[in-house]
Amino acid sequence: MPTVLLTGATGYIASHTWLALQAAGFDVVGVDDFSNSSPVVLERLAELSGRAPQFERASVCNAAAISGIFARHRPQAVVHFAAFKAVGESVERPLAYYANNVGGLVAVCEAMQAHGVGRFVFSSSATVYGQPETLPIREDAPVGATNPYGATKLIGEGVLRDLGRADPAWQTACLRYFNPVGAHESGRIGEDPRGVPNNLMPYVAQVAVGRREALTVYGNDYPTPDGTGVRDYIHVMDLAEGHVAALRALFDAQGSFTVNLGTGQGYSVLDVVAAYERASGQPVPYVVAPRRAGDVAACWADPAAAAQRLGWRAQRGLDAMCADSWRWQQGNPQGYGAG
Ligand SMILES: NC(=O)c1ccc[n+]([C@@H]2O[C@H](COP(=O)([O-])OP(=O)(O)OC[C@H]3O[C@@H](n4cnc5c(N)ncnc54)[C@H](O)[C@@H]3O)[C@@H](O)[C@H]2O)c1
Repeated sequence: MPTVLLTGATGYIASHTWLALQAAGFDVVGVDDFSNSSPVVLERLAELSGRAPQFERASVCNAAAISGIFARHRPQAVVHFAAFKAVGESVERPLAYYANNVGGLVAVCEAMQAHGVGRFVFSSSATVYGQPETLPIREDAPVGATNPYGATKLIGEGVLRDLGRADPAWQTACLRYFNPVGAHESGRIGEDPRGVPNNLMPYVAQVAVGRREALTVYGNDYPTPDGTGVRDYIHVMDLAEGHVAALRALFDAQGSFTVNLGTGQGYSVLDVVAAYERASGQPVPYVVAPRRAGDVAACWADPAAAAQRLGWRAQRGLDAMCADSWRWQQGNPQGYGAG
């Protein structure tokens, strides 16, 4: 089976994708600089897969290091997760985001070109849709960035489009993720945000486990059924399997494509709170605060293109997302920090 290089490999989504790729028979080589993840992930992956992970510590911005990894491991495809992802931080430190997210992508593509590798799967995001005008969101909806993080994803997609135009040997997949949540069903790997979580479900998890007092709900006066914001949450293992499907399509030489990876179903903040209380048996107290600037009322995917093109559909519902998140949170109340 082909060898696949995963960048950002010890991060949240990549670590789950690593297991899904191995389960599908791919050989995986991981690279990460641990700027937002822990080496403990590698021990957990070894435990779950029963084999020592092939891993190199390096920054994707280090062209010489990445070229060396290509020479040593000879991957036939790349799944590029490595990036900074905090929207608020990207507004404060735009250069760091452009340098890491765009610079890293370009450095990886240069190494690929030098080593004759053209299959590339890119972690894009629903954030490229900016303020969506119609729901559900299809891939041909207008795009536009509302912050530097989103801009780096749009530029990344543009780099890949231009590469494909310049040389048909490039076969690229842009996967626009909606809101990844949950954890591997073993509870041994999961999302371990540093500091205060930016996303809803890790915050809810930390309230349920007693690490934080209460959730802040930003806005309960949106034009949604219960007034709180509605999003398309997708189980991280469904997302991981979406990457397997995308890689298979690239190995079948189906050409380049851009698809949403979401469930097509929206849930409100209060739906998530109620589901988490059911899954954990713990109360999740919350306080309501004013809306945050830039938040949209509702956002969910039309997942039809991924179903048609890749034969992939999300399988796991909100209850499984919460139950798996809780298993991880309960078994690892301090994340990977406690080892
Ligand atoms: N989590 C989400 O909600 C979400 C949504 C849409 C898209 N994405 C994208 O998916 C990808 C993975 O996200 P995640 O949630 O797993 O984030 P994450 O922070 O857990 O994973 C990213 C990994 O990349 C590593 N990394 C960062 N810069 C690096 C560099 N220069 N060299 C090597 N490694 C580097 C980090 O150490 C981390 O392990 C990112 O590209 C992100 O933008 C995430």
